Amino acid sequence: MDAAAADAHLARDVDPVSRERLEAQGLEMRMVTDDADRDAFIQVVARGFLDPELTDEQVRETRSRGSYRRLTGVYDPQTPTASAPVATSASWLSELTLPGGGVLPGSAISAVTVAPTHRRRGVARALLEAELRSAVAGGVPLAMLTVSEATLYGRYGFGPAAPAANWVIDTKRAGWRGPGRSGRVDFISRETWREIAPALHEEVRLRSVGELEIPAGHWDSFAGTRPDAKDPGKRRAIQWRDDAGRVRGAALYTVTENSDDWTKSRVDVTSLLAVTPTAYAALWRFLLELDLIGEIHAGELAVDEPLWWMIADQRAATITLRDHQYVRIIDVPRVLEGRTYSGSGEVVLDVEDSLGLSTGRWHLRVVDGIGTVEDIGDSAAAAPVVRLGIEELSAISLGGVSVATLAAAGRLAVDDAETVSLLFLTARAPRLSFWY
Ligand SMILES: CC(C)(COP(=O)(O)OP(=O)(O)OC[C@H]1O[C@@H](n2cnc3c(N)ncnc32)[C@H](O)[C@@H]1OP(=O)(O)O)[C@@H](O)C(=O)NCCC(=O)NCCS
Repeated sequence: MDAAAADAHLARDVDPVSRERLEAQGLEMRMVTDDADRDAFIQVVARGFLDPELTDEQVRETRSRGSYRRLTGVYDPQTPTASAPVATSASWLSELTLPGGGVLPGSAISAVTVAPTHRRRGVARALLEAELRSAVAGGVPLAMLTVSEATLYGRYGFGPAAPAANWVIDTKRAGWRGPGRSGRVDFISRETWREIAPALHEEVRLRSVGELEIPAGHWDSFAGTRPDAKDPGKRRAIQWRDDAGRVRGAALYTVTENSDDWTKSRVDVTSLLAVTPTAYAALWRFLLELDLIGEIHAGELAVDEPLWWMIADQRAATITLRDHQYVRIIDVPRVLEGRTYSGSGEVVLDVEDSLGLSTGRWHLRVVDGIGTVEDIGDSAAAAPVVRLGIEELSAISLGGVSVATLAAAGRLAVDDAETVSLLFLTARAPRLSFWY
């Protein structure tokens, strides 16, 4: 990520439209910058997500890792605890990988909470619209988030763009029919995993559509290397080296013993990073063949994991699909030109956006996978037309759903569903491997 752009995002002042709207309700919206205010903000976010009150150490450790976050707070001078916000949101710039391997900066939004005392009066809407207008002001082409409830963000134009597959594998049944062994797996310390994982993720995310940069603060939480980590010793870390001795993969997992039957203990995979298919196969095989383990739980996988084709008995895996990475396109031409396509062709996209940020009519011409976009205003279309909302265009953007599927669901109208769908076709399903 371009550091100057990230800093400019961080320094952007509060959105005046939302500030005025909340002022009319006697509420004050402002950026949260000094340490004491950031500490109060962190406690309010914890309460909003149903966590217990944090200790001073937890607050301090969270704050010390959170300087990349632009915090917006809404304050009510009438409350007895007026120094604590009644509503919160956070955002930072992160790179999103698009089909074809290009990346675009997006505003990653998190920590959206409104106190139960102030719910359902439009405060969350004011915060979300403010985040989007701030992104527009900074020339940021899209926004993204992961969500607590699937029904919250469609109204602001966010579409579920990269679903997640959550796996439970019956290891006694799975068997292995993937590639044979090569390289070597070794245990490493959590601290070593913490050191090597960011660089591995960096390689992986640049070739994985839907992935983002992982914020620096997340790594210590994954690894249990924060001083306030709960049960840090439960995490086990491994690395995989190829025959030349290069580390090309690593995994982090926890084990929960089943004291009724030790042979049915459980593994939860926190992270599996594999730069090469060989590393991927070796790490999964290691986990599947662990003695005394009956079940492996792994979340936020792709819907087309190669693992499905590496186990001998596909019914050993119970897979649950869920919406995960939401994307909100702001700058339609930049996003459409930022990704690649399949073959050549053309289409007119007639886009409706209830917030008015991305409404328009664009002619997308694709030659050998490369798209160029022209704003054609009200002119007549000389290509098949897709009429759709920004939520649906955002859902399509990473290749997580096809135009034909959304047409069949009645979510858009298209002149020639098959031709247009083939243009947007991608080789692999998008994926996001973590929450933020
Ligand atoms: C979700 C939450 C932020 C909503 O805040 P809020 O200030 O009550 O929301 P608003 O009054 O601004 O409502 C905005 C819109 O969302 C809708 N909405 C709000 N909460 C909703 C919910 N839980 N489910 C579905 N729709 C909801 C409102 O009906 C309203 O719709 P409209 O503007 O299209 O008419 C708040 O309930 C909360 O803090 N929940 C717990 C933490 C959480 O889950 N945060 C989201 C993290 S991703």
